[in-house]
Amino acid sequence: MNFIPEVFSIKSEMVAGELVIGGCKSSSLAREFGTPLFVIDEADFKFRLNSWKNALANNFGSSAGQVYYASKSFISVEVAKWIAESGIGIDVCTGGELAVALAANFPVDRIEVHGNNKSEAEISKAISVGVSKIVIDSTFEIERVNRLAAAAGKVQKVLLRITPGVDAHTLEAISTAHEDVKFGFSIASGAAWKAIAAVEAAPNLALEGLHCHIGSQIFESDGFILATTRLIELAAKFHKEFKRELAELDLGGGYGIAYIAGDKTFDPNQVMSDLAGLVTKECERQGLKIPKVSIEPGRAIAGPTTTTLYEVGTIKDVELDGGKRRRYIAVDGGMSDNIRPGLYGAKYCAILANRTSKANAIDSRLVGKHCETGDIIIREIDLPEDIGPGDILAVPATGAYGRSMASNYNHMMKPAVIAVSNGSARVILRRETEADLLALDVVEAPKPIK
Ligand code: LLP
Repeated sequence: MNFIPEVFSIKSEMVAGELVIGGCKSSSLAREFGTPLFVIDEADFKFRLNSWKNALANNFGSSAGQVYYASKSFISVEVAKWIAESGIGIDVCTGGELAVALAANFPVDRIEVHGNNKSEAEISKAISVGVSKIVIDSTFEIERVNRLAAAAGKVQKVLLRITPGVDAHTLEAISTAHEDVKFGFSIASGAAWKAIAAVEAAPNLALEGLHCHIGSQIFESDGFILATTRLIELAAKFHKEFKRELAELDLGGGYGIAYIAGDKTFDPNQVMSDLAGLVTKECERQGLKIPKVSIEPGRAIAGPTTTTLYEVGTIKDVELDGGKRRRYIAVDGGMSDNIRPGLYGAKYCAILANRTSKANAIDSRLVGKHCETGDIIIREIDLPEDIGPGDILAVPATGAYGRSMASNYNHMMKPAVIAVSNGSARVILRRETEADLLALDVVEAPKPIK
């Protein structure tokens, strides 16, 4: 498997047979920081933040709303600072994600709060710090946010999460806008319209606009087009009924990225130019002014910036039916640092990162070190026959939903995340230690519960 430029981060290259990221050799990074290791190409991350920001601004002009980076894809205090500095906003969907943004002194007027089951504590915190918007996801929440805003003596700006009833052409587990789903208010059932009326009647809520997010890792445009069209239709109905126009239309994230050779990639400018054309056309058709249009990309920013480095350990050849052979190459991580292949059947690629090999490529399976058969990182990959213990393998495009979905299964310690740039590297999330794992264990006498 050769180096594939469109799948690796921008500042990745092969130099003298070795993968170099942000000017740092893979072998040196592995030696210095250990493996598994998430390596973020800082310049690439910042470049993508700016690309989406500029694409929105250039194509929407005065109707550009906010790019809210979807922090669920990956967040740390340092990364939140990069996002703040870039001038874009952030989308948080739990109190934990909000805590990271606040720890980074993220400007609160650029924080948007999501979640289908926000607790009272999470809502109160969001209101008290003064987040820009809360995206309301259920009827129950209309009452809850209104009551908590009243208690804080505030009128909270909100968006309503709408389910436009579209099939996003991605995996069911990451589709979010068909009818039978836990998110949002359905247009078709009338729930969306009822929610609009309820928010309008709530004294401590100010309805700023409508939101939808149709799913993730999407390439086909028809889902985006249908969702946008239906939301603008709903905004027109609102205008007719309430005699004012909604200020914002937030169309969520979901833009796909390349994981393996041959996968498509999106050009943010092209995506935003198409979207601007569509929004303009639909608003004209409905007799509306163009609202502020916002988006929430996560994967398209974080995903391609990061490469996971693993060290190879055990190699095992397994005889298959028909005299075939499969080589199992086990690395020192696995489903605890990348659950996506196991959970979604997601495909990745890998290359030998620390040296070149002229050996024959053979049918291999890249597996982790967990006690589980499904602990597979790459089901089928041709890798050089001479790969052995101590070699470093690099799996690109692991920046989104890798570290952020990491677990401690089998009491594995979550890997470190480092940022590399211009030949220097720094830790931005340190590796967990056995002490971290044991710090949660409590051995104490039982206490009576009344
Ligand atoms: N906005 C909302 C309201 C979302 O729910 C999401 C993702 C995003 C934005 C960002 O979507 P993106 O641009 O990253 O596609 N764990 C899955 C992905 C789940 C996405 C959940 N919501 C995966 O690993 O593929």
